[in-house]
Amino acid sequence: MCGIVGVLGDHEAAPLLVEALKRLEYRGYDSAGIATVNNGKLDRRRAVGKLVNLSDLLVHDPLAGKAGIGHTRWATHGAPSVTNAHPHQAGPVAVVHNGIIENFRDLRAELRGHGLDFVTQTDTETVALLTQHYMAQGASPVEAARQTIARLEGAFALVFLFEGEEDLLIAARKGSPLAVGHGDGEMFVGSDAIALAPMTDRITYLEEGDIAIVTRTSLEIRDANGELANRAIKTIQIESAQVDKAGHKHFMAKEIAEQPRVIGEALRFYLSGEGDTIRLPGEGIDFTAIDRLSMVACGTAFYACMTAKYWFEQLAGLPVDVDIASEFRYREPPIPARTMALFVSQSGETADTLAALRYCEGKAARIVSVVNVAESSIARESDLALPIMAGAEIGVASTKAFTCQLTVLLLLALEAAHQRGRISQEELSDHLSALRSLPVALNAALDLSGKIKNAARKLSESTDVLFLGRGLMYPLALEGALKLKEISYIHAEAYASGELKHGPIALIDKTMPVVVMAPRDALFDKTVSNMQEVMARGGKVMLITDAEGEAEASDQTWQVLVMPRIDAVLTPILYALPAQLLAYHTAVAKGTDVDQPRNLAKSVTVE
Ligand code: F6R
Repeated sequence: MCGIVGVLGDHEAAPLLVEALKRLEYRGYDSAGIATVNNGKLDRRRAVGKLVNLSDLLVHDPLAGKAGIGHTRWATHGAPSVTNAHPHQAGPVAVVHNGIIENFRDLRAELRGHGLDFVTQTDTETVALLTQHYMAQGASPVEAARQTIARLEGAFALVFLFEGEEDLLIAARKGSPLAVGHGDGEMFVGSDAIALAPMTDRITYLEEGDIAIVTRTSLEIRDANGELANRAIKTIQIESAQVDKAGHKHFMAKEIAEQPRVIGEALRFYLSGEGDTIRLPGEGIDFTAIDRLSMVACGTAFYACMTAKYWFEQLAGLPVDVDIASEFRYREPPIPARTMALFVSQSGETADTLAALRYCEGKAARIVSVVNVAESSIARESDLALPIMAGAEIGVASTKAFTCQLTVLLLLALEAAHQRGRISQEELSDHLSALRSLPVALNAALDLSGKIKNAARKLSESTDVLFLGRGLMYPLALEGALKLKEISYIHAEAYASGELKHGPIALIDKTMPVVVMAPRDALFDKTVSNMQEVMARGGKVMLITDAEGEAEASDQTWQVLVMPRIDAVLTPILYALPAQLLAYHTAVAKGTDVDQPRNLAKSVTVE
């Protein structure tokens, strides 16, 4: 969701704010703005749309000052407009906010009673006005901010900047992440360490309920009880905060291409020196002590869980429930004893997944997460956090995080199968050896990019696309459809192949491309029958299969993409690549904004 930043610098703040916002733009790009204090005076610049519009504005209308705050917005309350863009200012205070103030209507009514007027439709303006109100009653900036924060309900990360205060930022975290960066005689605040990476690698992560009073030479943190809190300074790996496109046209293209390497890194992290044992961090997981797995996630991460259900059930004989976090959190599902709750999240900050995790606290035998961001809330609130080693993912459409999630989940399923006596050491070694050769197969899949680009050109002329898959390919069909719709805006949906004749077959006509994902496995013949049903009704089939599948497929198929042949268990990881490339090239052919598709944001920290 929104990205926020604050700077107490040695030099002009505006360029640093814009640089940090550039690194946060993946969180939202409906509008952007900055505010600074210069010679005691608070001033701001704001622009609708991408950050580049704010940069252009600043060229013509610069903003001086060494202390400032900035924001890139994903609109919740109020349409994207200059008026609704952050920072919001009320008299002597300016505020940037990520999250939702749930009681803003009540606060508005109260402030109206004090004769204070609103100019925006946002919930955030309430925060600025309330602070102004307390200051008008004689509170100091710090006191006014504290009183305001105490009145807020909902989720928020906030940074306050005050007129006449060139050495003060106040930052507060409740439900949305926030980090403080330590420079030499400079201090920074940001939604994540990536934003602050050009300025510093020394980071203090705020905890839930923390309020930080930041000056150039000091950081005072009070916890949710108002007690002084001692939070560690961590040195982050700057390389993991690299956000360049490395010569690719888009972050998404770069991240797709990185998959053989990052999956290799995940395997190195989890496999022992000889490569035939799985090594989990910390005290690991005792899969003999659990009877059930409850997996919860959103979006692409949910499809990774759906895939893993097949693995855990088939390989380890472990029953699995898979839930969408936004449903799980309010359904009040009973959690039987000896259930392990497993949460999957790239960002580790997804509000619904975090709430689902908190629901399981004290109920599940163990809370484990599979995350990309090690310092995220979900990682920190789990009993055990398993990293996926994907590195920063900037493209809004998740690609390498998905395949790294799958890799870690498969390793967990294999470990469970081995511990529960369902597979021998020899069988485990065979699977792991196949996994170790996966990066080679992934590179071969990437080589199909040119062919997929040609197919995508044809797909880009369609208005609707259907994806079909059976077994392990069913969740992947769902993921393929999600990727296509989110970046190309083509309507796409996916069905389990066997479901086709129960309704969706009515959609088939000669204008409807049907992407069928089907390696030559035990279910292939059944999928071919479903394909025939499509072709018999004039539907255009794009088949993604291997050489054996191609040999057996009908010559009436519209397009065939031939994938390398690998261990059937690994096919979801490999077949994710053509699904991603198909969406990518289709979006490029249509000319949509691949990395920042409309209406979306990475890291969904609101409900
Ligand atoms: C789709 C996509 C989203 C995320 C979802 C969960 O390409 O990226 O569907 O997978 O918002 O996000 P995380 O994994 O950060 O919890």
